[in-house]
Order: sequence, then C-alpha cells, then structure tokens
Amino acid sequence: MTTCKQNHRQDDGTAVFASAAGRCCLLFTLLFHAALAADPRQDLMQLRQFYRERFPTLSLQDYADGVYALDPVARESWLAIEEFPPYEPFIERGEAAFTRPFKNGRSYADCFPGRGIGIAHNYPKWDSRKGEVITLTMAINQCRTANGEEPLPYKKGPITNLLAYMAYTSRGKPIDIVIPEDDPRALTAYEQGKDYYHRRRGQLNFACATCHVQNASKRIRAEMLSPMLGQTSGWPVYRLKWGEMGTLHRRFIGCHRQIRAKPPEPQSTALRNLEYYMSYSSNGVPLNGPSTRK
Ligand code: HEC
Repeated sequence: MTTCKQNHRQDDGTAVFASAAGRCCLLFTLLFHAALAADPRQDLMQLRQFYRERFPTLSLQDYADGVYALDPVARESWLAIEEFPPYEPFIERGEAAFTRPFKNGRSYADCFPGRGIGIAHNYPKWDSRKGEVITLTMAINQCRTANGEEPLPYKKGPITNLLAYMAYTSRGKPIDIVIPEDDPRALTAYEQGKDYYHRRRGQLNFACATCHVQNASKRIRAEMLSPMLGQTSGWPVYRLKWGEMGTLHRRFIGCHRQIRAKPPEPQSTALRNLEYYMSYSSNGVPLNGPSTRK
C-alpha cells in the first residue's frame, strides 16, 4: 500500500481535508471495505500498516497517548498537566466506591474475574450467554443491579470514578480484546462496529474514519485529529472542556454532534459494537486510562 503522507501538508487548518480524496486514502478505504465480512486479524494488521506508513516514527506503544503522540506542542502542556493529574482524586473516590460493600454485603470484586483488579484491558468482552458485547461500564451496572443497587448514569458522574480506578489497575497492560471464533455472533458484532466507524452520517456526511483514519494528524479548526489506533486506551478522561470526567461513550456522542448526526444512546448496542471494533483494533496498545484531554 502506498503512503498518504507525501500528499498531506501540515497546514494552517484552512485547507482541512483538502487531500481527503487523495488516491491512496481512497485505496485504503476500498481495501478496508473489501475486507468487510473478513478476518479481524487481517483488518488489524492493515490498520497498523496504514499508520506505520503514515507515522513511521511512532511505535505501537506511542498510540496510547492519543493526539499527544502526534502534536509535540500540545504534548508538552499535556505532560505538564499529567504531573499533577486532575483525575487523581477520582481514582481515589473510585477505589473507595469499589471496596465499599453493597447493602447486601457483597461488592464489585465479587462480580469480576480477578476480583476486578487489572482486568480493564480485557474489556469490552463478548458474552456468549447473553449474545452481546459487554463493556466494562455496562458490567459495572450489571453488578450493581444483580446486587439490588440502582444503575449509575453512563456518561459522567460516579461511574467514571469506578472506571478510573479499574483502568488505573490495568495501566500499561496491552489492550487484549478477544473475538471468540466459536460464536459467529461475536464476529457479526465486530463487523457492525466496523461498519459504523466507516459509514458516513450526519449533515456533514462524515464517517468516524474520515477524521480519525484518513485525516489523522490534520487540523480541524484548532484541534489536531487523533488516530483511531489507541483511541480507546485513555478512558475515562478528565476533559478540560468538560471540567470533569467523562466516559468513552460521552466522547462518541460528542463526535456525532460535531458532524450533526443523531447520536445513539450511551451503551446502546450500536455504541457497544463500535467500542468492540475500536478496542479490538487497538490490541497491543497499552491501556493508559484514566487520562487528561483538552
Ligand atoms: C469532523 C471530524 C470528526 C469526526 C467525523 C469524528 N470525530 Fe472523533 N474527534 C474529533 C476531534 C476534533 C477530537 C478531539 C481531538 C482528538 O483527540 O482527535 C476527537 C476525539 C475523539 C476521541 C477521543 C480520543 C482521545 O484520545 O481522547 C474518540 C474516542 C473519538 N473522537 C471517536 C470518534 C468516533 C467513534 C467517531 C464516529 C462516530 C468520531 N470520533 C467522529 C473529530 C471527529
């Protein structure tokens, strides 16, 4: 595959997407779609190869830093913030909530493999009994309701504390998502997620991939676009713009709004399958949650 790199000017932001229809990117899109109903492992190799050619100095590990792997200026302020990270108190709150028993005396640890410690990099998971993708966020609420507690809201608030703590105990572990071969429904969920990422939508008629694959590292207004590879690594996120923590699905919904598309509900089947595809595609990238974003 030829690289798109030479075609792209690192420009001032006015000519955003000027080369979006560059031949090689088109070729990539075609290859990607030709591979639909294909082998996830092959997709993953193609995606890595695409970014390797595009950003030859980056290692797979570097993608855990999101856009800050690509933007040296933003990276400096990011690293400075990460020295006294605004998410730290939320990890502590999460740990307290995680260890506090439910009214029935049981606790979160009773619901998870490994008692919930160092397992976040294995989510989302395919649940063959239920026949659906279970994200860590959803598993937390399933644990609560199974123990007679109210479910927590999915976009922000207390669930982000629990997620922050659980992600923290998996920090540095390579993302390791499994698509079981003995259940074809898992592959279907992956394919639906893949289709979602690459399908155009909204009044602006963009796909997720338009920004984060074909145009990764280019600027849209003041923001540089992160690559899809590693995009699920740093969650939950303390976003300066939000002034608080948020979940990955909150960010998914925000990206729908940018292109004036109607977002699905957080933890809907569509967004869980999307997360399954994106996380599988980031296998091998270290988990780096929680983290800070602009
Ligand atoms: C118009 C361009 C555009 C489209 C289309 C778009 N996004 Fe984004 N997205 C952004 C910008 C800008 C940011 C903030 C900078 C960054 O991290 O890329 C962002 C950030 C993200 C992040 C956070 C990455 C991180 O490390 O913090 C995720 C995850 C994400 N987008 C997923 C999606 C998904 C899924 C879709 C499709 C439903 C999508 N985006 C569609 C522009 C877009």
